[in-house]
Amino acid sequence: MKKLLAVLMVLIAAGFAFGAGRQQGGGSAGGVTKGMDRKIVMGYSQIGAESEWRTACTNSVKAAAEEYNIELIFSDAQQKQENQMQALRSFIRQKVDVIGWTPVVETGWDAILQEIKDAGIPVICVDRQVTLAAGKRQEDYISAFIGSNMITEAQKAVQWIVNYMKTTGNSRKKDDGKVDINVAILEGTTGSGAQVGRTEGWNQEISKYPNYKTIFRQTGNFTRAEGQQVMEAWMKSPQANDIDVLFAQNDDMAIGAIDAIKAAGKKPGTDIIIVSIDSVKGAFDAMLRKELNATIECNPLLGPQVMDTAVKILNNQPITWWVESVESQFDWTNAEAAYPSRQY
Ligand code: AHR
Repeated sequence: MKKLLAVLMVLIAAGFAFGAGRQQGGGSAGGVTKGMDRKIVMGYSQIGAESEWRTACTNSVKAAAEEYNIELIFSDAQQKQENQMQALRSFIRQKVDVIGWTPVVETGWDAILQEIKDAGIPVICVDRQVTLAAGKRQEDYISAFIGSNMITEAQKAVQWIVNYMKTTGNSRKKDDGKVDINVAILEGTTGSGAQVGRTEGWNQEISKYPNYKTIFRQTGNFTRAEGQQVMEAWMKSPQANDIDVLFAQNDDMAIGAIDAIKAAGKKPGTDIIIVSIDSVKGAFDAMLRKELNATIECNPLLGPQVMDTAVKILNNQPITWWVESVESQFDWTNAEAAYPSRQY
């Protein structure tokens, strides 16, 4: 009896440790899920709250679960893969109807995905994809992917930068195709789908312009604080004055870096051209202050698509494995007009 009690206590504590919490969807505690003949339960493993984008994504998922009257068991992994493993295993134990999941990194999921498959629970990957062992396809373990094309986002960033450097330039130089354009790159969480895809897209596209040289490249983990710290260190280095362009793999890191650039006595947006990805409100504020030059949109409002896909899967209706988000890009020419209609 004592042993049983001890085991129960550990299990309860583990539940709290990774922050899983049940949320009743819809106005009534009961009822049925929109589009279903019963109320369904979704286990959702989010990676954390590292950025403005992530908060918008979480809010969208929670609001959509309410709208669909889906019971959501939400777990915040605080950026740790082992917390996500625990959450996913607890969803299996709880026999949820469907799992929504943003993998913090791309690899290391083969075993848990097999367990979920064996349990017969469909998985919807949200925002970030996985890479499985050679010969395995993620489509055989994951029912649908909902999110952006990280590769094309970075390619758009390169195109914006090259065009701007050719036509306008920074306070010191224009790109004539021959002069070196020195780039600093703030990368996201190493090994995450967003970092891997955006790095691949950047590398592919920038290789067409050999005069663009990467002089700094480091992770800022998608956070404002780390973006600022890394930029501060670069601004103290002997090569600080050589930086022409900063590409940050998300807006939060760019916003942190802007503070570091100003503290070092330089004008962000003029002395150093800055482009990032996401298009959160903070980026619009920075563009209106003429401190951030451009942001490539990555849509975090994925909740409705996640819930709609879950309902379709459980009803055995046909779905497309990945419907890419339709996205835009913003700079000083259109930021002001777009700002009032931005939802995140
Ligand atoms: O995976 C999407 C990325 O993760 C967003 O660009 C970033 O802001 C977030 O933290």
